[in-house]
Amino acid sequence: MTTTEERPTAPSATARAFPPGFVWGTATAAYQVEGAAAEGGRTPSIWDTYSHTPGRVVGGDTGDVADDHYHRFREDVALMQRLGMASYRFSVAWPRITPQVSADALGPVNAEGLAFYSALVDELLAAGIEPAVTLYHWDLPQALEDAGGWTSRRTAERFAEYAEVVAAALGDRVRTFITLNEPWCSAYLGYASGVHAPGRTEPAAALAAVHHLNLAHGLGAAAVRRAAPGARVALTLNLAWVRTEGTTAADADAVRRVDGLQNRVFLDPVLRGRYPDDVLADTAGVTDWSFVRDGDLDLIHQPLDALGVNYYSPTVVRAWDGTTPRAENDGHGASAHSPWVAAQDVEFPELPGDKTAMGWSVDARGMTELLLRLHREHPGLELIVTENGAAYDDVVVAGRVHDVERTRYLRDHLAAVLDAVEAGAPVTGYYLWSFLDNFEWSYGFSKRFGVVHVDYTTQQRTIKDSGYWYASVVRAHAVPATDGALVTG
Ligand code: FCB
Repeated sequence: MTTTEERPTAPSATARAFPPGFVWGTATAAYQVEGAAAEGGRTPSIWDTYSHTPGRVVGGDTGDVADDHYHRFREDVALMQRLGMASYRFSVAWPRITPQVSADALGPVNAEGLAFYSALVDELLAAGIEPAVTLYHWDLPQALEDAGGWTSRRTAERFAEYAEVVAAALGDRVRTFITLNEPWCSAYLGYASGVHAPGRTEPAAALAAVHHLNLAHGLGAAAVRRAAPGARVALTLNLAWVRTEGTTAADADAVRRVDGLQNRVFLDPVLRGRYPDDVLADTAGVTDWSFVRDGDLDLIHQPLDALGVNYYSPTVVRAWDGTTPRAENDGHGASAHSPWVAAQDVEFPELPGDKTAMGWSVDARGMTELLLRLHREHPGLELIVTENGAAYDDVVVAGRVHDVERTRYLRDHLAAVLDAVEAGAPVTGYYLWSFLDNFEWSYGFSKRFGVVHVDYTTQQRTIKDSGYWYASVVRAHAVPATDGALVTG
């Protein structure tokens, strides 16, 4: 039965069609939605430790219960089906799969952990929804952090073994495995600015983490191919569209530095088998990169079937001369320690214009520019938008959430994806972040990204207007070109 709220917006002359086969999806991550933190044999991850440390997360929130997706996944899959999703990107919690892992050994596989994801995969397939599995979305087993975390290459080695276990168990039904989600955040927010778990503030450790995350991707990609030869292997990066409004050579150099630290230090080893010389030079005062061993770059430079691109907001920089307080509007949270290792002479000015509840500037052009740059520099590489979305301060009024700002954000960004596609970029899918409101890391439950509202007291799900709107886009396989079609219901 189609309710009034679900009636499709007319695609007609005011809509722009996506290419046939373009995949519509929605995304979440284990620690942000699952809850059941101490159930099914799961042991603590770095996010359990971090969120339970007073002062780390807004409101003292934790992922102990979150959206209770662990128990409610059948209901959630039914909701996805109702919205017409073709694919669901979720992550596997490593501490559910090998809860006794140590730096030296993976330890026994926890059948109960695998059974949960296997049941989720079956439920999705029965609903006609294709699973896309992220193997690491930031919930490192605490025991590995205690032995050095991502500063240690043993973490990368254990990751590959864990990846092989998951791919062997799910690879008969899962076509897409994403090794890592946003290693930039794991490395720099986890080890330099400390606003993410494990909360360390050591610049040299952050760069060691960059390398071992790259290594984990390479070893993990090879492991997935061994265990699930037919699967597609991808890596998701949060790449930045870095620009400046300044005109000096120093401003241009600020763009180069930040581009190096955010984009090329991941793209170049993975896709070209080398670290960028300028990044090595920029960071020479922090580390000599001696943790890179002979042969590592070959291990990292594995064939990649697709690159996952997460885009939310532009990155605008300028040179900082040190005479005024440094502007730090980089959207990555407040810390006395910068995530921008070896870029002390760069600042991030506040931009005029629209911002989301995260304080992130809204500029959909960046989506097009980023996708086109990747297409230009890595021709032939399949691109998938694995995250895009926005937080706003939603309110439920009489059972509805009229989140027109989020709908407008999504409309503009989908149009921006289509601009890139029409200009030749091989973008094959789009995953909206997020399906449900969830635990937004150090912001806890204070920021809502979902197209489905969650009442954290009752666990009641309420489809927001943006959810109905996205469903209409999926049905029409087209994005409305005018504001008139933004509101459904
Ligand atoms: C990305 C993360 C995701 C979510 C969104 C808002 O950086 O991958 O888990 O927190 O931001």
